[in-house]
Amino acid sequence: MKIEIVKNKEEGAKVAFQLIQKATNEGATVFGLATGSTPETLYKELRSSDIDFSDKIAINLDEYIGLDSDHPQSYKTFMQKQLFEKKPFKETHIPNGMAPEETEVKRYNDILDKHPIDVQILGIGTNAHIGFNEPGTSFDTKTQKVELTEETIEANKRNFDSEKDVPKSAYSMGIASIMAAKKIILIAYGQNKAEAIAKTVNGAVNEDVPASILQKHSDVVIIVDEEAASQL
Ligand code: GLP
Repeated sequence: MKIEIVKNKEEGAKVAFQLIQKATNEGATVFGLATGSTPETLYKELRSSDIDFSDKIAINLDEYIGLDSDHPQSYKTFMQKQLFEKKPFKETHIPNGMAPEETEVKRYNDILDKHPIDVQILGIGTNAHIGFNEPGTSFDTKTQKVELTEETIEANKRNFDSEKDVPKSAYSMGIASIMAAKKIILIAYGQNKAEAIAKTVNGAVNEDVPASILQKHSDVVIIVDEEAASQL
C-alpha cells in the first residue's frame, strides 16, 4: 500500500486526479466510482479539467434500495450532479435501487464481468466499510443486497431529512468485485476516519475490518489528510 498524506481535500483531489490521468494515458477505460462527501473535491477537479471520458465506462459501487433513480438522495442523482452532467461517459452503470434482488444482482455482476475495472475510487466508512460492505461481510462476495449498520445509517443521515428516511439496505459491489480492480485509490479525510485508516493499514486482515483486505492488493494508493493519518 502506498500512503499519500496531503494537507487538505483540495490537495487530495489533485493527487487522485493525477493518478487517474496517468492511468487514462496508460489505457484505462473502466472507472469504478464512489459516492459520499469524500470524492466531491476529486469530482470538482475532474469537472473543471479537460479530461475526456466520452469513450470511457463508469461503474458505481452501490445504491440505496428503495430510492428511485431520480430521488434527490439517490447515488444516481449524486453522480449526475457531481460528474456525469459535466463529464459524459460512453456508459455509466449504477445499481437500480428499485429493481428486485434476483435480477439486479445478476445484472450488475454481468456488467462487472464484461467490463473489468481499471481504476477503482473508494471512500471508507467510519467502521472501515468499503462500498456498502459492512464489517463481517465475507471477502468472497460479489454484488449483493446488504443491510446497513446503525453506525452507517447514523453517519449518512446528514443527507436526509431525518434518520427514518435513510434506507436500511443497499445493493453494493462485493469485496471480491472491488479487489478485482487493477488499481485502487482509497481516499479518507478527517479525524472520524483515523481509526478505520489505522486498522486498514496496520491491523490484521480480518472480515471485521472490510478495508483491511486491501493489504492483499498489489496496487493500492491511500490518500489521507493529516487527521485521517493521525493514528498511523
Ligand atoms: C457511504 C458510501 C461509501 C462511502 C461512505 C463514506 O456509506 N456507500 O462508498 O465511502 O459512505 O462517506 P463519506 O465520504 O461521506 O464519509
